[in-house]
Amino acid sequence: MRFGPDILARCDALAAISEDRDRLTRTYLTPQHRAAGETIAGWMRDAGMEARFDAIGNVVGRYVAADPNAPVVVTGSHMDSVVDAGRYDGIFGILAPIACVDDLHARGRRLPYTLEIVAFGDEEGVRFGVSMLGSRALAGRFDMAALDRRDANGTSLREALVAFGGDPAAIASLARRGVVAYVETHIEQGPVLLDAGLPVGVVTSIAGGTRLAVRVEGLAGHAGTVPMPARQDALAAAAEMVLAIERHCAERADTLVGTVGKLAVAGGGAINVIPGAVEFTVDLRSGDDARRRAALAAVEAECRTIAARRRVTLAWEPFFELAAAPCDARLQAQWAAAVAAHGVPVRHLPSGAGHDAMEFAKLAPIAMLFVRCGNGGISHSPRETLAVEDAELATSVFLHFLEHFDPAPFSG
Ligand code: HGY
Ligand code: MN
Ligand code: MN
Repeated sequence: MRFGPDILARCDALAAISEDRDRLTRTYLTPQHRAAGETIAGWMRDAGMEARFDAIGNVVGRYVAADPNAPVVVTGSHMDSVVDAGRYDGIFGILAPIACVDDLHARGRRLPYTLEIVAFGDEEGVRFGVSMLGSRALAGRFDMAALDRRDANGTSLREALVAFGGDPAAIASLARRGVVAYVETHIEQGPVLLDAGLPVGVVTSIAGGTRLAVRVEGLAGHAGTVPMPARQDALAAAAEMVLAIERHCAERADTLVGTVGKLAVAGGGAINVIPGAVEFTVDLRSGDDARRRAALAAVEAECRTIAARRRVTLAWEPFFELAAAPCDARLQAQWAAAVAAHGVPVRHLPSGAGHDAMEFAKLAPIAMLFVRCGNGGISHSPRETLAVEDAELATSVFLHFLEHFDPAPFSG
């Protein structure tokens, strides 16, 4: 095998760069972000690329074409992780193209386009809540108001970026021009390819999503003296809302997913105090934007009914939205040809997970190649697995795609 073993060894090396001692957590603008980025930049340079951090903390590698005026193709994925993450989410989409360029460089082969490989600094949004910061900046869609968002310690994104060595004033200048295509490979993070017995698949579209911050306020009180009918229990109300959100999505499971990933009693709560205020998050997604928006309106109305009945107040704040992103049919066909050239049946599938590719969808045609996840398809978990044979095949397919891609039809 030419690619798989080295890629998995590099995934292991990066997995050791973590904020937590016994699990993988690597968030945006931390020393671990810096260390992982420097490591990736080193591998890019070893592969014959220029590589450096940009103003927002991405690592940008360039494998320039023979013609300096050649069009640009962008690929890559994210180097940040969720809390207690798997080691392949994002990282595989950075290391596979680096392995391809390493192979091209070793053969002295240049492409008819400049290939940019980007290790995005923040796709998960763990530290500041809003995600896709790195890819949003390159796509020219960065919302400067995000610089005022604060992390759990009260540090603003602006302060953290300056401390990291970034430059908030230069973010706008990162917007890419002349990108003819954006392609990305990523672990599937689901069971479809595993159940089909296939190592890779071609993505048709990427589900859109909305993230919300919800605050329920009732009345704190003594757990022993307030009669049940008199209570305005914020946690009991929130719990009913969480189940209402789950039920609404479960009844439309073919087009919707809804998740409450974080919930906390304001101030931490106490065993003998009726919770006065509760905050929770909602992550609601669909491949169909109209259905997602209709579901958002429906669950909000239901939560407001619950709030009124329970005499609590409800603050319902959508703070992040990404439209569903269709993948370009021509690029899908080229991924499919590369897969077929390896004797593998071509399977097309949608992505329920979000990816940096979504941010580029407004800038250029996008397309993705999924590689099989083992272990039931689990991801956002240390139980995430990637077989070395699948890493090998996906990278070989990627190299075939890169060597056969003709930018001319996309350069209009
Ligand atoms: O949440 C997602 O879909 C991605 O992992 N950021
Ligand atoms: Mn992820
Ligand atoms: Mn990811």
